[in-house]
Amino acid sequence: MPTHRFAPSLLFALLLLIAPRAASAEDLIGMFLSWQQDPTTTMTVTWVDIYADSSSTILYRKYDGQKHSADTKWQTATAKQSTMGPTTLQLRRVELTGLEPGTRYEFGIGDKTKDVTQFWRFDTMPAKLTEPLTFVAGGDMMHNRAMVDDMNEEMQKLEPDFALLGGDIAYENGIHGTHWIDWLQSWTNHAVTKDKRLIPLVITIGNHEVKGGYNGTPPQDAPYFYSIFPLPQNRSYYALDFGKYLSLVILDSQHTNPIAGPQADWLAEAMSQRGDQQFLFACYHFPAYGTTKEPEGGTPIDSPQALAIQKNWCPSFERFGATAIFENDHHNYKRSHRIRNRQRDDANGILYLGDGAWGVEPREVPKDAWWLAKAEGRNHLWRVELDPDGKVEFEAIDAEGEAFDELEIKEPRTKPVP
Ligand SMILES: [Fe+2]
Repeated sequence: MPTHRFAPSLLFALLLLIAPRAASAEDLIGMFLSWQQDPTTTMTVTWVDIYADSSSTILYRKYDGQKHSADTKWQTATAKQSTMGPTTLQLRRVELTGLEPGTRYEFGIGDKTKDVTQFWRFDTMPAKLTEPLTFVAGGDMMHNRAMVDDMNEEMQKLEPDFALLGGDIAYENGIHGTHWIDWLQSWTNHAVTKDKRLIPLVITIGNHEVKGGYNGTPPQDAPYFYSIFPLPQNRSYYALDFGKYLSLVILDSQHTNPIAGPQADWLAEAMSQRGDQQFLFACYHFPAYGTTKEPEGGTPIDSPQALAIQKNWCPSFERFGATAIFENDHHNYKRSHRIRNRQRDDANGILYLGDGAWGVEPREVPKDAWWLAKAEGRNHLWRVELDPDGKVEFEAIDAEGEAFDELEIKEPRTKPVP
């Protein structure tokens, strides 16, 4: 009897089935960069694709400006594989550590360079602020794909160093996971500069990440948020420190963690530990000094959630000093007067910027609100430029790219008040 032998082509086909699949550009649903710890020496890469057997390897090296230069050796890092929430979409995540500050790297997905179909770049943040650093901030991103695309396009033109996202990202409400496909595709297409540098994001939780919106239990009530985004300190409230020049304090406005109690205690401690940071911004979703959602007979700043934030968080901002606070959720543009002790304090009050209208239908703003310096129903993002000398420039930019409000401050933080 003749011995059965695999034809060479069949053998090759079998080997291909066993070998990890190279992630082709068509398979990739989305990719984003973020930080779990020091933004000057680490970068976390997360990507989502369809196949369980595609490559989990990242190849990366310092970028020297030469395409495929042979001088710098590629390093490899292996991503941990999971799924995007309760779907079968494959989510891979790897944290690159021990990187050099203020340095450009290039990377791609694949076990060998010949398998890599696309290379991207990223910059680690500088150890010291010697030239201006810019970021964009905004939330309430995606009532529909066209709206998120429009504002993401404006972000892309600005080429910021990173983006601070204030919750209500894909509007899946913890349930409609396919929204994330749209959001990830839009982000991947736009959070990249002309020279292929990916713009990292800093994430905040909002009510539309959570089943029921408020008082949820992590992670089961926000399965997409907690599976997609790697969180510093593994919580929806955390701080990120950029050297001695910048801290970001991210809070959960009662979506999966109560405003009062452990989070408020943590905030007071986090603020007290960061008194020497040159710039400090906080960001959360539901506003203390908002523009809509007023309770019956009251104003937006009288709602139970607004009052809880004013009572439990704002005193920590006031006591230790902040550059500005980013608020979201109310789907308008707003810039507050400076506020301390729930009163206007032009000399040393806290500045609140919002109100979450990246890619959602804007609403009406209240008339004659004592806390608002300027507000209107208008899609926008905030562009922020931090100068080494302590100056900060804020610009509100709409979906057509028009800068319709600007503010410059000379003092990087309000003065601490015991
Ligand atoms: Fe919201």
